[in-house]
Amino acid sequence: MPNHTFRLNGEQITVEAEDDVRLLWVLRDLLGVTGPKYGCGIGVCQACTSHVNGKAVNVCSVPVSRIGPDDEVVTIEGLPATVGRDLHPMQEAWLEHDVAQCGYCQPGQIMSAVAKVRQARAEGRDVTDADLDELRNICRCGTYARIRDAIRTGAENM
Ligand code: FES
Ligand code: FES
Repeated sequence: MPNHTFRLNGEQITVEAEDDVRLLWVLRDLLGVTGPKYGCGIGVCQACTSHVNGKAVNVCSVPVSRIGPDDEVVTIEGLPATVGRDLHPMQEAWLEHDVAQCGYCQPGQIMSAVAKVRQARAEGRDVTDADLDELRNICRCGTYARIRDAIRTGAENM
């Protein structure tokens, strides 16, 4: 079986898997990184959202062979370390607004939120309602209103 090397949450790792195995399953089943959740497996629900080179990616849709040694994969487990803290400001905002209900979708929600705020900042502006409208993560518990409030709070502290 082929080897695949990439950076995962700050560490260089190598894992053996067939080329077409999706990154979600490499993370969860082979590496035990269970923050990215499985919802649909077809790039719709966004429960698996993680960052690849700083951008939000649905890792259920990415064959592991597309990830190379220079690529940096960050999951919710590695998010705090990207700011050198125990919790990322977006996670703190999530706690402040008591967002989670069952919690299943929330790692993906937070990873999408952080990427969206970063994208706005890269364009030299704050996150807007229109940005929040673009987020497509599904929450079956219906926590959307609290998610929006938390993103605004988290963005202030990022
Ligand atoms: S599991 Fe990846 S988008 Fe649904
Ligand atoms: S908190 Fe339950 S699916 Fe979102």
